[in-house]
Amino acid sequence: MNKTEAKSRIDQLTHDLEEHNFQYYVKSNPTISDFEFDNLLKELEKLESEFPELAHVNSPTKRVGGDITKKFPTVIHDYPMLSLSNSYSKEEIIEFESRARKLTEADMEYVCELKYDGVAIGIKYVNGEFMRAVTRGDGTKGEDISANVRTIRTVPMKLRGSDIPSELEIRGEIFFPLDRFLALNKQREEAGEQLYANPRNTASGTLKNQDSSLVAERGLDTYLYGVYSQSKVATNHYDSVLKAGEWGCHIPSVSDNMIKRCKSIEEIMDFINYWDEKRHELNFEIDGVVIKVNDFIQQEDLGYTAKSPRWAIAYKFKAAEVTTVLESVTYQVGRTGAITPVANLAAVHLAGTTVKRASLHNSDQIEKLDLRIGDHVYVEKGGEIIPKVTGVDLSKRASDSQPFEYAMHCPECDTLLVRKEGEAQHYCPNDSGCPTQIVGRMQHFISRRAMDIEGIGAETIDQLYKEGLIRDMADLYDLKAEQLLPLDRMAEKSVENILFGLEASKQIPFERTLFAIGIRYVGETVAKKLARHFHSIENIKAATTEELMNVDEIGERIALSVREFFDNENNVAIVNRLKSAGLQFEIPADQLADQTNKLEGLTFVISGVFDRHSRDELKALIEKNGGKNTGSVSAKTSYLLAGEGMGPSKRTKAENLGVQIISESDFEQMID
Ligand code: IVH
Repeated sequence: MNKTEAKSRIDQLTHDLEEHNFQYYVKSNPTISDFEFDNLLKELEKLESEFPELAHVNSPTKRVGGDITKKFPTVIHDYPMLSLSNSYSKEEIIEFESRARKLTEADMEYVCELKYDGVAIGIKYVNGEFMRAVTRGDGTKGEDISANVRTIRTVPMKLRGSDIPSELEIRGEIFFPLDRFLALNKQREEAGEQLYANPRNTASGTLKNQDSSLVAERGLDTYLYGVYSQSKVATNHYDSVLKAGEWGCHIPSVSDNMIKRCKSIEEIMDFINYWDEKRHELNFEIDGVVIKVNDFIQQEDLGYTAKSPRWAIAYKFKAAEVTTVLESVTYQVGRTGAITPVANLAAVHLAGTTVKRASLHNSDQIEKLDLRIGDHVYVEKGGEIIPKVTGVDLSKRASDSQPFEYAMHCPECDTLLVRKEGEAQHYCPNDSGCPTQIVGRMQHFISRRAMDIEGIGAETIDQLYKEGLIRDMADLYDLKAEQLLPLDRMAEKSVENILFGLEASKQIPFERTLFAIGIRYVGETVAKKLARHFHSIENIKAATTEELMNVDEIGERIALSVREFFDNENNVAIVNRLKSAGLQFEIPADQLADQTNKLEGLTFVISGVFDRHSRDELKALIEKNGGKNTGSVSAKTSYLLAGEGMGPSKRTKAENLGVQIISESDFEQMID
């Protein structure tokens, strides 16, 4: 394909993919299959890597992330980002409404919207193209997090339709959808990692991540709530929001009552009451309702205080709270031995569900609240998904109540619990004898993200353990059809599936096997890093704490945990048996052949066309020699590997940042 052909194909694909993206994410109405979409995306990726200078800045390929931002530049907002005055009282909403009506002495119309509990963002479009996305910051200036916001599928990269002002800012809220948040925490739980406390803080933390591909994986979403431009888009707020919807922005649904025009305080109250009740059915968190004067001229008449507009107010919902009796405290044992206390409550109705249990986190929490069995406690469902106990109604405490005594022994195996310095959690140290830990570890081992053993589910593990057929994960590979067939609910077919699944798992690559064996704090990412750095389990086993800590992003906590794992004979014995069974405990030699660390710590950007290697070959060579590839030149780049027809902007950027530009033969010498 020549350059002209490539340009027209790249333009076409960029346009079509953006359209499909809009249909899928904003309209929830896909017009092609995922498979077809992926094929188009792959075609575009390939063309962009052959002709990097033709790639659009806002290409759909950027939606999967990959750009690394070292430091987010500070940007001054074109329009200050104000906040809203808040109120928890309906009287104040009534006052707000009558004040607004008096000041303007006219017919009033208000717009009621949801108050999304996320992170505010201002997205600037120039000639309909996404230009940058900036956080609220201090209201006057914020951080440019464009690379991360590009990965959010409901943010259009190019606006569609007509009457789009040449300069335009869309303001809205980025949030973590609840299903995605719960899935993320489930994954972390499986990896024995600390859970994220609430969706809002996690969204905010995610957006500050320097690696946009991580942001892309998380699946954040957004709704817009304001349109700013020097040119007139509409005469009122409501119409401006609908207009932005026509341009392809993600706007609240009119038919679902997420945005509503109201003419009276009664209608406003109806909206508030409706959502106070219904908010728990949404797939995202809201912490209230925002009421805005609709007409732009009336808004100007009402004006602003130093921090917030006088034409808008937020009514905040009280966190749903009830009191009930704390009947008992039980303790859950995780697969890593971590103990979590759980409050068992007299059943109460809270925020649309019946609550019988609440999380207590750890012993410090119980001590801080001075919780006692029989107490009337406050239970709240706030930012967190699992209800929590927030306090005690002391006026109702029985005179003979006794201070709470935290468990000394494991509820499952009666071993004395331990608590390490600096850790909040108690642990059951009996990892080789505590049945819950043993079963939990095996359930983790077979799970989808680990060994993905088809035919064996969590219940099968339970059953096999109870039947005495397995005591550790290595026992799984000794199972025989004759042992399985007599068991309950085991047809010939299921036995076949189990044995087949076990056999297939022997092909699972080392990094996943390493994750599967369940070393505390070694989640998927850490396992990948360790595997790629050390290449085999033997090398990891032989590594000192210091050597482990030399690996990118591995700190003392993880390093100590890895050491502790391999210092335990039981673990070593299990690993050896799994090895004999044929599981992958190293990266195969052919993948490692000519692997060196000549380029360790160096980051490369490849641009242009080369004489002796394709770009993919060069990328592979860089990785094989321990270097890193990235897409765009930044202060972090060590070398710009330049071929023919390299984009001029890359060269200028490299020159400005003092990044060394090298040729294909310079590179060959480096790895020779
Ligand atoms: S309007 C000048 N509308 O609440 C008024 N804000 O306290 C600007 N928020 O920083 C804000 N949902 O992040 C507006 N429907 C909504 C909102 C909303 C959430 C957030 C926003 C802002 C904060 C103001």
